Amino acid sequence: YKVLRFQSLHFLCVLPFVNLHPYVSLLVCGTPLNTRIVGGQDALAGSWPWQASLHRFGRHFCGGSLINKEWVLTAAHCFSSPSTSNLVVYVGRQNQKGSNPNEVDRGVTQIMSHPNYTRSTNDNDMCLLKLSSPVTFTNYIRPVCLAAPGSSFHAGTTSWVTGWGTIRSGVSLPSPKTLQEVEVPVVGNRLCNFNYGVGTITDNMICAGLAAGGKDSCQGDSGGPMVTNQGTRWIQSGVVSFGKGCALAKFPGVYTRVSQYQTWINSQISSDQPGFVTFSSSGTDSDLSVNLSPSLRISLYLALFIFPSMSPSPCCGKTSPTA
Ligand SMILES: *[C@@H]1O[C@H](CO)[C@@H](O)[C@H](O)[C@H]1NC(C)=O
Repeated sequence: YKVLRFQSLHFLCVLPFVNLHPYVSLLVCGTPLNTRIVGGQDALAGSWPWQASLHRFGRHFCGGSLINKEWVLTAAHCFSSPSTSNLVVYVGRQNQKGSNPNEVDRGVTQIMSHPNYTRSTNDNDMCLLKLSSPVTFTNYIRPVCLAAPGSSFHAGTTSWVTGWGTIRSGVSLPSPKTLQEVEVPVVGNRLCNFNYGVGTITDNMICAGLAAGGKDSCQGDSGGPMVTNQGTRWIQSGVVSFGKGCALAKFPGVYTRVSQYQTWINSQISSDQPGFVTFSSSGTDSDLSVNLSPSLRISLYLALFIFPSMSPSPCCGKTSPTA
């Protein structure tokens, strides 16, 4: 069965010019003070200063990422209704239980789900939240850079995912529920499609995980960021979206591919646009050598185009999200 990652991963110098232009997201994005998720570890405070926690009725239900002083990027599947009531966004938060000296909270005035989000296929699983008022950047609250169109994330690209989700399917993060971080390599779209069933993984998705499993995002991590380091910056490549179970061998986590959405994001955010940065992988992508055998290709062709009802259904048996 498939599970949406609803309800429920360094050290860099602070750049000297950051204080001169604290309001320009492109200049400050992706530069933390320091530089569960399944198989993860406690994050140090300030390591992932763009991480947001979305609460409804006082409970964490999804993650998100701060992309400028008043917008948070998250997943569309986190919102079954467009109502902003009882919604609170925390940034600068480290623990879900106990004290958080560096956090601030805001209400939400707008939930903008991507107009082409399709619940049955998880395509375009992306959403923007406008905060009730801007936040001030600190060492614990800072926007992430977003992957610009044309970014390349070859198979094996080291990535980090962060969140307060369950540590295994059905097992919640133990108190004090400290933000978890986990390192996972990108899995190419060809291989990911081969594992999930060809057609399930669209160009709007990016996969990451170990072939043997054991490290992954899970329920409650949805909407949170997958980031990759380039020089002095951290660039968000993905938004936690879905997966088959959590951390299962051959079933990597599936993320919304951020580099597909600059036009849409900038059409929603008119001032102080987020920092889009191109991520470039070097060498050749090993995913290009993932080839399907000719006989398998014929059966996939038949399944997808001649007998579409036989094609793997991405939606069957998906558990409903629970808070
Ligand atoms: C949604 O899909 C339609 C049809 O493919 C396309 O024309 C439109 O640009 C898409 N909208 C966005 C915001 O990407």
